[in-house]
Amino acid sequence: MQVAIDGPASAGKSTVAKKLAQDLNYMYLDTGAMYRGVTLEFLKDDVDLTNDELISQKLKNINLTFETIESEQHLLINGEDKSQEIRSIAVTNSVSDVASIKQVRSFLVAEQRRIAGKHDVVMDGRDIGTTVLPNAEVKVFLLASVHERAQRRLLDYQQSGETISLNQIEEDIKNRDYKDQHRAISPLVKAKDAIELDTTSLAIDEVVEELKKIIEKVKKS
Ligand code: CDP
Ligand code: CDP
Repeated sequence: MQVAIDGPASAGKSTVAKKLAQDLNYMYLDTGAMYRGVTLEFLKDDVDLTNDELISQKLKNINLTFETIESEQHLLINGEDKSQEIRSIAVTNSVSDVASIKQVRSFLVAEQRRIAGKHDVVMDGRDIGTTVLPNAEVKVFLLASVHERAQRRLLDYQQSGETISLNQIEEDIKNRDYKDQHRAISPLVKAKDAIELDTTSLAIDEVVEELKKIIEKVKKS
């Protein structure tokens, strides 16, 4: 069983995907974390995003792995835990530019398909239902209003000690969604066969329950 969860920034994809995978004992893969990992490395080395040769060289030296620590999935870059750093505002504001680079996408899509292998998997991102797992049995497109998404993200930032206003988060989210929706390769778009779910007024557990119902229906059909 392959479950593809796509949608715009902060719609709750990774939170519900993780919970769903735990409950069903499926593998979970956070593809956004991988784009964030590459972005962190590129920012660290001040990589010129127009230099194809340099990008190709850098990608060869990036080894992304996931490790479960106290039931949380951590992203390791070349063996070092970077789970916290990849969530910074600096990475968040650069990730869409890095994710629009063809080589980066080819590299990560290949990795994502390899990691998922033949497991039952819940994968979340922007292009899972359209590109990474086009034959996924279940495809869901999660939505929520920009205001609700910004409020959810504000709480995340407050917990990690980063200072930013709600207005600024709303702007950043709109900006990132626009870039993700308008890039040339694998833009953020609902797959034709995806089920749309607006989570604006839904709690995390309610979304997870909805997804379980969708999966049950597919299993019975
Ligand atoms: O959690 P949040 O919505 O902030 O984003 P994320 O899932 O961590 O993804 C960060 C960024 O990576 C997105 O804004 C996209 O630019 C890119 N991304 C992508 O292009 N394709 C994916 N499958 C996943 C993420
Ligand atoms: O992965 P994505 O960017 O779509 O969103 P996320 O990182 O899973 O969720 C962003 C924040 O919204 C997290 O703090 C979630 O706990 C919260 N959330 C929520 O309050 N209600 C939901 N229905 C879904 C997520």
